[in-house]
Amino acid sequence: MANILVTGAGGYIGSVLTPLLLSEGHTVRALDRFFFGAEMLADHPQLQRVREDARRIAPAHLEGCDAVIDLVALSNDPAGEEFRAETYAINHQSRAATARLAKAAGVQRYILPSSCSIYGFQDPDVRVDEAAPTNPLTTYARANERAEQDVLPLADKDFTVVVLRQATAYGLSPRVRFDLAINGMTFGAWKTGVLPLMRDGTQWRPMAHVRDLASAQLYMLTAPQDRVNGEIFNVGSDANNYQLGPLADIVAAATPRDVRIEWYGDPDHRSYRVNFDKIERLGWTAKLGAEDGVRELCAALEDGRIDKTTQTLTLDWYRELMRWHERIKQVELYGGILRI
Ligand SMILES: NC(=O)c1ccc[n+]([C@@H]2O[C@H](COP(=O)([O-])OP(=O)(O)OC[C@H]3O[C@@H](n4cnc5c(N)ncnc54)[C@H](O)[C@@H]3O)[C@@H](O)[C@H]2O)c1
Repeated sequence: MANILVTGAGGYIGSVLTPLLLSEGHTVRALDRFFFGAEMLADHPQLQRVREDARRIAPAHLEGCDAVIDLVALSNDPAGEEFRAETYAINHQSRAATARLAKAAGVQRYILPSSCSIYGFQDPDVRVDEAAPTNPLTTYARANERAEQDVLPLADKDFTVVVLRQATAYGLSPRVRFDLAINGMTFGAWKTGVLPLMRDGTQWRPMAHVRDLASAQLYMLTAPQDRVNGEIFNVGSDANNYQLGPLADIVAAATPRDVRIEWYGDPDHRSYRVNFDKIERLGWTAKLGAEDGVRELCAALEDGRIDKTTQTLTLDWYRELMRWHERIKQVELYGGILRI
């Protein structure tokens, strides 16, 4: 049982990870701006919410913590290009600063959830492993790589540092995202019966269920120090290395209505496959497949528990918040709008 600081805890992965950590008996300090709403995390006696910006993290936030899982980020490529400086400041610099503060505070373990996107696009005949040269093509990917480069050298016998290069996530979460490939395909198929698919469908993409990603983070809290310290692990599974054409067929088959595939665009030659042998040798394996994610998303859509809204599209929501911030600054007086 440990005290764990989780940054970005109110996000898509964090709002699945936090209840998992709590259910394992850990105490969680959830540090987040809660851009998507503090209600993404249910109350729990062992949960402490800290509404703070990761760029203002201070030694007090790390006091008494045994481990850090540093999820905080602007979490996709389009947001990274639109908010470039902020992406470097949050995804790279704030996480490097958190790792340094954690080490200084005597925290024992620091886990950086990075991304397979730092491989960029590679020879589709090769399954890239952790030793392969990286090829980050976007601001988001470059910021993740810089964070890795800054935190890994901090590893020593008293401070265990683990980098997890996660595949693209899918599946249900309290803070659901439809700007992720499988989730977006599922919504289109469920809502309209038409699944738009980029030609020619042979491109490879690594995916991972959000509960599997959370379970890998949990696993790394207690994995043997001599096997994980200063190490990078790809997180996913070969069964979840999908080609988009067959993936679309899986999504269509798991959606409870007739679905037709509609091709669009020129053939996309960007393709990459990832090798997950290293984490499997350690003893962790992914348990879920795309059909599990599609089925649970469709069930939640059917019940009206989730919907595709501005709030479930990451970049749209940040744009919306910034628009409202401007508008509210213009009309607010004496701390209010009509009630002052
Ligand atoms: N979801 C994926 O497919 C995927 C794949 C690979 C890696 N990752 C990585 O996993 C991490 C989490 O991704 P996610 O999908 O949960 O993203 P998310 O956007 O759902 O969550 C990010 C959280 O960080 C918070 N946040 C953003 N800026 C902040 C700031 N300055 N201060 C405090 N809080 C702030 C947001 O409020 C949000 O709750 C990210 O580092 C992402 O790069 C995600």
